[in-house]
Amino acid sequence: MDLFEAIYGRRSIRLFKGDEVNDEKIIKILDAGRWAPSGGNIQPWRYIVVKDKNIIKLIKMFSPGMFSEPPVLIVICSDKKEAFERGGVLGRDYLSIVDCAMAAQNMMLAAYALGLGTCVIKSFNSKAIREILEIPNHVEPELIIALGYPAEKPTPPPRKPLSDITFLNRYQKRWEKVAK
Ligand SMILES: Cc1cc2nc3c(=O)[nH]c(=O)nc-3n(C[C@H](O)[C@H](O)[C@H](O)COP(=O)(O)O)c2cc1C
Repeated sequence: MDLFEAIYGRRSIRLFKGDEVNDEKIIKILDAGRWAPSGGNIQPWRYIVVKDKNIIKLIKMFSPGMFSEPPVLIVICSDKKEAFERGGVLGRDYLSIVDCAMAAQNMMLAAYALGLGTCVIKSFNSKAIREILEIPNHVEPELIIALGYPAEKPTPPPRKPLSDITFLNRYQKRWEKVAK
């Protein structure tokens, strides 16, 4: 699939078919995340793949941002201990979060290219997720990716025009070339 087709075509999917996602596809998606850039190449991300229906049900109970029970969840965590040891305060408090977001976007585009739908979720109770998934104290659950075959085709939520968000050389100097 063309990269721009994936960038424009990917939507957040909140309703999934019951069909199982095979492990080969899940692993391809995880590997796309592994190839994301990370600050200092620290790669503080850790992935927990959740396929157990009962655990997914439980996670949903503590995740107001999750609107259905997808067949798979990928919980993207950051290892704060490694992030601090190798990147100091910046590594722990900033880079590790950005790194997880970079991995998440790679995974979502890869999933789309494989015919799957995703939704990245931040609205969850970290403490509960930590307990349910037995995540140690030095590891932080940052994002959850809901994954499965889409059962909806949402219309694209509007984007701000490029002309509202782009400047040339100096902040507040609009770039006239950018389409309104
Ligand atoms: C950091 C982040 C957190 C998000 N958290 C949630 C969430 O908790 N629940 C949810 O349904 N969508 C969540 N989303 C998805 C956004 O609502 C969605 O990306 C946005 O509305 C644009 O729609 P699109 O992804 O279809 O282009 C999140 C997206 C990002 C980037």
